[in-house]
Amino acid sequence: MSATDVVTMDKIVSLSKRRGFVFPSSEIYGGLGSSYDYGHYGVLLKNNVKDRWWRAMLQQRDDILALDSAIIQHPETWRASGHVASFTDPLVDCRTCKLRFRADKLEDSQCGRKPSKHPGETPECDLTEARDFNLLFETTIGPVRDEGSIVYLRPETAQGIFLNFRHYLQFGRKKPPFGIAQIGKSFRNEITTGNFIFRTREFEQMEMEFFVPPPKAQPWFEHWLEQRMNWYEGLGIRADHLRLRPHEPDELSHYSSATSDVEYLFPIGWQELEGIANRGDYDLTAHAQRSGQKLEYVDTASGERYIPHVIEPAAGVDRAMLAFLVDAYDEDEIEGERRTVLRLHPLLAPVKVAVLPLVRKDGQPELAREVYERLRDRVQAEYDESGAIGRRYRRQDEIGTPWGVTIDHRSLEDRTVTLRDRDSLEQVRIAIDELADDIEGRLREPWRSPKLGG
Ligand code: GAP
Repeated sequence: MSATDVVTMDKIVSLSKRRGFVFPSSEIYGGLGSSYDYGHYGVLLKNNVKDRWWRAMLQQRDDILALDSAIIQHPETWRASGHVASFTDPLVDCRTCKLRFRADKLEDSQCGRKPSKHPGETPECDLTEARDFNLLFETTIGPVRDEGSIVYLRPETAQGIFLNFRHYLQFGRKKPPFGIAQIGKSFRNEITTGNFIFRTREFEQMEMEFFVPPPKAQPWFEHWLEQRMNWYEGLGIRADHLRLRPHEPDELSHYSSATSDVEYLFPIGWQELEGIANRGDYDLTAHAQRSGQKLEYVDTASGERYIPHVIEPAAGVDRAMLAFLVDAYDEDEIEGERRTVLRLHPLLAPVKVAVLPLVRKDGQPELAREVYERLRDRVQAEYDESGAIGRRYRRQDEIGTPWGVTIDHRSLEDRTVTLRDRDSLEQVRIAIDELADDIEGRLREPWRSPKLGG
């Protein structure tokens, strides 16, 4: 972290709960380890993250189509993909504290008896040999529970895309290079979870499989590395907190010939945000072999046929949201009072504008409500009349609302309001009739994190 950064994971967890972004799930029953529910502002922020991803994939290009495939697929899917055989992590048990740990992540885990130490570090730790643990969540389908009814909750959204590849050649009238994108829930029975929403057993992915002629795989791989880095930076992530890290050969997944991770400098150190992989023809070939169906591209004019290679940018929605929260978190002082503020990119902010009458009398609430109702047709807006104005602003700062509109006695005379900027704290007077256009104009302006200074 940079020297001036005040953010810690604990502060993010506490702000998220206090302000209704993310709550521990099933809390009234004592919680369910590493399971989280997204509250009102969490839903709005997460939707904005997904919306920006869809825009980058679908609206700003014409070579990608959308998909929303089933979570439960035919179980052969996961045999073909290699997940049943090799989607495993090495696991060790501690006979003393009875906890389980990932053998390759002991340095990230805490000893069950002495949380200040790592498993294996104290003389009492009694660790078993490592053994492979499959991360697939199993369930059964239909009324009879037997061997034949076992199915899996998908551990990645990617395979649903490969299963539908043929449809896209037909109805989409696409030829490589083209992509299929999807956002949806994935499930992994992770051994070690933790660090809030960074690693959970149920999470959302944003994945895109880009099918290319085999000789073009490398340039497209590089294209997607650049595109994905630009996406995070364009949404305000500070460049010095973002890096690309190529995988070492012994880190590569079973399907990948090359992978680079987009990493973010979290308070827990550099961690993966997204993996960009060259999957070659691994998946289409595996599904073609197991299903007996041809999964290839045939050029009707030239007769040329080939199995496309696949470049895959695979991101986590929850993890991206955590990075945006961490990158935005800041504290400063206003008139001697400490303030917590989320300096989110305005496009990501859950609420774009808050409308606040200065006092709850003299016709101000009525006019403020009118202003709010006009604004909410255009942007996500919020009306708040309860409590002192300073406290209402503190609340909006903590949820990252970039602009606040105050209605005061002058507003009733000349139908102008003050517009306050979350970061610069600058206040300008503006006519009510121009407000919506003005805010939409501000939303379109280029933005850089005020945490960078200058
Ligand atoms: N289809 C390739 C694939 O799934 P991955 O690196 O295993 O690749 C892609 O996952 C992204 O999904 C990760 O970079 C991360 O952002 C997110 N992700 C994976 N496991 C996760 C978990 N247990 N909790 C939260 N996010 C996770």
